[in-house]
Amino acid sequence: MTGRSSLTIVLAAGEGTRMRSSLPKVLHPVAGQPLIAHVLAAVPRESAVAVVVGPDHDAVAAAARRANPQAGIFVQDERRGTAHAVLAARAAITKKYDDILIVFGDTPLISPATLERLREPLGDGAALAVLGFRAADPTGYGRLIVNDEQLVAIREEADASAAERAVTLCNAGVMAFSGAHALAMLERIGNANAKGEFYLTDAVEIARAMGLSCVVRETGEDEVRGINTKAQLAEAEAVMQRRLRRAALESGVTLIAPETVHLCADTAFGADVTVEPYVVFGPGVSVGAGAVIHSFSHVSEATIGAGASVGPFARLRPGTRLGEGARIGNFVETKAAEIAAGAKVNHLTYIGDAEVGAGANIGAGTITCNYDGFLKHRTVIGAGAFIGSNSALVAPLRIGAGAYIGSGSVITRDVPDDALALERAPQTVKDGWAVKFRALMARRKGK
Ligand code: UD1
Ligand code: CA
Repeated sequence: MTGRSSLTIVLAAGEGTRMRSSLPKVLHPVAGQPLIAHVLAAVPRESAVAVVVGPDHDAVAAAARRANPQAGIFVQDERRGTAHAVLAARAAITKKYDDILIVFGDTPLISPATLERLREPLGDGAALAVLGFRAADPTGYGRLIVNDEQLVAIREEADASAAERAVTLCNAGVMAFSGAHALAMLERIGNANAKGEFYLTDAVEIARAMGLSCVVRETGEDEVRGINTKAQLAEAEAVMQRRLRRAALESGVTLIAPETVHLCADTAFGADVTVEPYVVFGPGVSVGAGAVIHSFSHVSEATIGAGASVGPFARLRPGTRLGEGARIGNFVETKAAEIAAGAKVNHLTYIGDAEVGAGANIGAGTITCNYDGFLKHRTVIGAGAFIGSNSALVAPLRIGAGAYIGSGSVITRDVPDDALALERAPQTVKDGWAVKFRALMARRKGK
């Protein structure tokens, strides 16, 4: 929309108890980000933002600021309804914006395009535009009562007659107010209803009584799912996952079984990446061009270099950085690990708080012993080093470039470049011993 100023108010204070959680509702994650971060990401770019939080919701305010550092934070001291919550941001509302958008912090699937579309009627003289949708099951939503293109009322479920409850056109919770009339409408809202709350939805009948025009703009249900329960949270997650998978496929990622791959809103893929079935991406993952993530891998806060190969059954934990062409094989766990180009960690290994140099080969069953019960320590392995299988590398430890570690060693002291270190009792061989042993045991058993 051109030339019109706007304020977006995000309501994130107070909630029913239906989430049954100690975590504030809007901090529950969908695709790895709190609900409120998704909502803030959809706000028109040039819009001022006011977030209304509850009195003890510092964590909500912090999450809002992380998502939008410019957001103004307003506190609603007591949960007294959505209109009461909006008026907590009165100081922002009085700043003479052309449009005032109101969105709920528990409606994370809303798109920027829909918010822009809802503002359009304001430019054509409407005082209020409400986003509606056709609900498959309208239970719990406010019903939109429409007459001749005009919205005449929104009836909350608890206050609706049987006939009104049969209406399936529902209030998505997103509204666009003309800034010129917003305060006058909001201040007239009372609380004479079943819940004794100040309902934002009453703005419609008030606007009508003031002779102002109210309209509905419709959108699809998936975009406006409001989250009041854990079941609805799971449904929103499913919608978001479908969207993210489609976007990944459209950007050229090969997802062999898309419906089995879990993505985060910030998962980033280079060209020609392949993701096999059953892979979970936590937050903060970027995957370089041509990399392959094999089945049953779990990756979070990790950077995977171009052409790298991960899994099957690999777990890359936060702080993992894989260089170009690095290989992480099955049953390998990494954490805070810098694994340089071409290095191989192919089987049954833990690499934590460590650097592995380019082209190094880490044998099966190698463990970096990074924790002494009190502190974490680093292991640095030089380029081209060869760590024999089943070695325990007790940190802090430095293994030089090109060094060899004999299999089964417990290495506690630094190893210079190109040296061999092994820590192992000398092997004893007794010729013919097994024959004598079997004869002895057979006699004892009386055979
Ligand atoms: C609300 C709408 C309903 C709509 C539905 C869509 C009203 C009265 N009802 O119902 O018409 O169909 O959303 O999802 O607006 N909040 C506050 N302070 C309060 C009360 C609520 O900040 O005092 C915030 C909540 O954190 C939430 C949002 O406002 O983000 C909506 O409140 P909620 O209780 O979820 O409203 P619904 O009953 O879902
Ligand atoms: Ca809700």
